[in-house]
Amino acid sequence: MKFDLLIKNGQTILPNKSGKFDVAVKDGKIALVGKKLDVEAEEVIDATGKIVVPGAIDAHVHLAMPFGGTISADDYYTGTRAAVCGGTTTIIDYPCQRKGNSIADTVKPRMEMCEKDACCDYSFHVAITNFNDGKILEELEEACKSGITSFKGYMVYKKEGMMVDDGMIYQLLLRCKEVGAMLNLHAENPDIIDVLTKKFLKEGKTSAWYHYASRPEFVAAEADKRAIHWATHLDAPVYIVHMSDKEGLEAVIEAKKRGFDVRVETCPHYLEFTNEVFKRENGINFVCSPPMKGKDSQDALWKALNKGYIDTVATDHCPFQQAEKLWGKDDFTKIPNGCAGIENMYPYMLCKANEGKTDYETVVRVCSYNPAKIFGCKDKGSLEVGKDADIVIFDPKKEFIVSVKNMHSNYDHTIWEGFKCNGYVEATYLRGKLVFKDGEFVGERGYGKFIKRERYLGK
Ligand code: URP
Ligand code: ZN
Ligand code: ZN
Repeated sequence: MKFDLLIKNGQTILPNKSGKFDVAVKDGKIALVGKKLDVEAEEVIDATGKIVVPGAIDAHVHLAMPFGGTISADDYYTGTRAAVCGGTTTIIDYPCQRKGNSIADTVKPRMEMCEKDACCDYSFHVAITNFNDGKILEELEEACKSGITSFKGYMVYKKEGMMVDDGMIYQLLLRCKEVGAMLNLHAENPDIIDVLTKKFLKEGKTSAWYHYASRPEFVAAEADKRAIHWATHLDAPVYIVHMSDKEGLEAVIEAKKRGFDVRVETCPHYLEFTNEVFKRENGINFVCSPPMKGKDSQDALWKALNKGYIDTVATDHCPFQQAEKLWGKDDFTKIPNGCAGIENMYPYMLCKANEGKTDYETVVRVCSYNPAKIFGCKDKGSLEVGKDADIVIFDPKKEFIVSVKNMHSNYDHTIWEGFKCNGYVEATYLRGKLVFKDGEFVGERGYGKFIKRERYLGK
């Protein structure tokens, strides 16, 4: 048989072993993996000195999201274009269900936009905000049948009408467990945030630092622990998104050690930045929720990542334009919450492996293998025969300095500006098709396809 593509001589990161393995691709699938493959292919790539990894799955993005009085800067075209340029070949986006809308109503327009625009593969976790007299809980089963097998509850964003209270969390956890879905939770305590926010504004404390100060470590930790409390008492799986604080993380680790199915995600910005960024002149640009915490939390996240306690790394990509961020220059509550990351996650994590802060196997596990497993993307997540040929070639010798000018998104500034990557993505293949090469997007708008995900079957 003649293969379509053969990637030879790379250091290939596989689930249980890594080494000099060649990878052969046929019809968009990984067809053969082995040492010194002596096969014919239409195209042969010599990856000597390069690292060959599966495409990343960014399980937390907000594209074209109405939020903070505007819409996040990247739509399904620019966001997914940027994704593949950073080695991410699948995204899971968060459409937000609203009062009166069914899950199907929520997904349909997003699906249509993706069909037209997506440059990488995609799926959705639907954020539930209103039960519509109980109908939504019924609809979870139908949604799972359609391949949407995870949902979200925001424990915050009360005034935005997005918050779920404890009663709703309780019901969602039970119903998700019943239908085989995962419940993702954004954990912070909304009431304490409100009290602290009012206090600071009254005292004239309006800078970006007070965004952090109104939602510090213990405010996130309380909600993390509440989420874990409900999940463990109901013996229901739960996935805590964007973990940023040490105390909450410790509670997750403790629940894991007790055998509970508590999963946890963190983001590159919590691994790279601390709350010190809010003291910078451009501190407003870093405003996201939860905010970056102190050094202790950052150290705890790295330690947990390297010990295997962090299940996934995802971006929470939700950038806004500079002028929009500036709405809050004199009042931190007016800053739209969210930062860029979709193109930075995999280069950042791989470069941290290259520097020895972690290792390539861990990066592949948290950025690809685990998100595929947890969120039921059965054809994704590893370079194994039969999987989609989503392949990234990483050049550990290529130096790259991130700038808004060399990104492929639609934002006009980035928190990653000036970040020096020791190593960078050289090429990205999506289902065997070259979509990024040497700094250029070479993919196709609309080539991305919907990933019908499997139900969550537990650890
Ligand atoms: O600041 C953030 N993270 N914005 C997006 C919405 C969310 O909370 O994930
Ligand atoms: Zn969130
Ligand atoms: Zn988010």
